Amino acid sequence: MSKRKSIHDRVLNADNLEELMAAYDEWAVNYDDDLLGEMGYVAPIIASNLLKDSLVDKEARILDAGCGTGIVGGLLHEHGYRHIEGLDYSRPMLAQAEAKDIYQALHRGDLTNALEIDNHVYDAIISVGTFTCGHVGPAAFDELLRITRPGGYLCFTVREQAWDDEDYQVKVGELENHGRWELQETLTADYIRQEGARCKVCLCKIPSCVAPAPGMASHPE
Ligand SMILES: C[S@@+](CC[C@H](N)C(=O)[O-])C[C@H]1O[C@@H](n2cnc3c(N)ncnc32)[C@H](O)[C@@H]1O
Repeated sequence: MSKRKSIHDRVLNADNLEELMAAYDEWAVNYDDDLLGEMGYVAPIIASNLLKDSLVDKEARILDAGCGTGIVGGLLHEHGYRHIEGLDYSRPMLAQAEAKDIYQALHRGDLTNALEIDNHVYDAIISVGTFTCGHVGPAAFDELLRITRPGGYLCFTVREQAWDDEDYQVKVGELENHGRWELQETLTADYIRQEGARCKVCLCKIPSCVAPAPGMASHPE
């Protein structure tokens, strides 16, 4: 098995965050060359184009959640956005992103836990490659919704295998039914071409008047 294939298998089959981060920490330096050069990783292009078609304000404050080495931030920068922040848990991946000099700020955080970010601060959040097998599960959408402003956008990919196996479809539908977001687009698209892997690419708009999260009072007591 090639070194690239073995590290990719490790990230898809990690049993916990520690194992996952050990694999990403090791992969960080070769990640762009492997995925873009050899594996045909096209999901960042598809998702950033989808967000660009709806997010007309180039001054928008955007969070790249699970930014990794900054591939998505780079594409958004090419599209003319200038207020891009990144968040990831792997320090070596964040170091690669920082070297690209396109992010206004980089945060270290765990997307499976509460984030140290205020409510409603981002105009848009994009997350590519992070909602996949053994990574961040659909429960994390609640926290991303909390930090997106009313009227803002959430754009994300979900690897097709995870979409089917890990209740993404259910959670996406629930959030739509509860009025937490409006699903504008769901594409089925190539993800990593050399593997034949496909993904869902979703664009959601947060209503200008946000419905409260289930269990929260709609008015202060
Ligand atoms: C496949 S990479 C995608 C990186 C980048 N978005 C891209 O498209 O190239 C997944 C990223 O999610 C990050 N990640 C995985 N689990 C995480 C967690 N619980 N919290 C924050 N980041 C996480 C990894 O460190 C890695 O950088």
